[in-house]
Amino acid sequence: THAPMNDDLKALIRTIPDFPKPGIQFRDITTLLLDPAGLAATIDRMVAATTGPVDLIAGIEARGFLFAAALAVPLKAGVLLIRKDGKLPGATIAEDYALEYGQDRIAMHEDALVPGQRVLLVDDLIATGGTARAAVRLLRKAGAIVEQAQFVIDLPDLGGADALRADGVQADALFA
Ligand code: PRP
Ligand code: ADE
Repeated sequence: THAPMNDDLKALIRTIPDFPKPGIQFRDITTLLLDPAGLAATIDRMVAATTGPVDLIAGIEARGFLFAAALAVPLKAGVLLIRKDGKLPGATIAEDYALEYGQDRIAMHEDALVPGQRVLLVDDLIATGGTARAAVRLLRKAGAIVEQAQFVIDLPDLGGADALRADGVQADALFA
């Protein structure tokens, strides 16, 4: 069997209109996750796109966790969880952010990293960038070096990846 080509891979992501609110075109990756070859090709490409050594992969709840853990194994990195506020059991630091469809707060354990560790940020999708930029602020507040972020999907019209680049983070996505 052959690794799926770019269009085949992109076709595994479906768009559901008006979820969770009218006007939102929701990019649904559950169909990509269900496809063994598609999932493997996605992880391979994200690993190949990683430049430089990383100590930790920071995954953003909930869909970002899946890709963070899968990338961490071949990259020989640990996984740092960035969760919705109130979910982590230990002492946390938090950041507020605006979402394409709401307002939220994310948190991480205050002792999750040692200052100076290199962290790769991973999520399934970047839209406005509110979530990813809050995650970068949070990680940097804890002393992390955050120079790269990887996403499966970028919605470039919403400007999130460009805003992340302006924050000094190399932002890569498999699909726009
Ligand atoms: C989605 C997505 C990103 C974020 C992107 O998560 O997984 O984390 O929105 O949007 P932004 O760039 O405009 O901030 P969501 O908050 O829906 O959470 P979930 O993964 O737990 O469903
Ligand atoms: N998160 C923010 N915007 C999204 C979208 N359009 N599809 C899936 N997840 C999202």
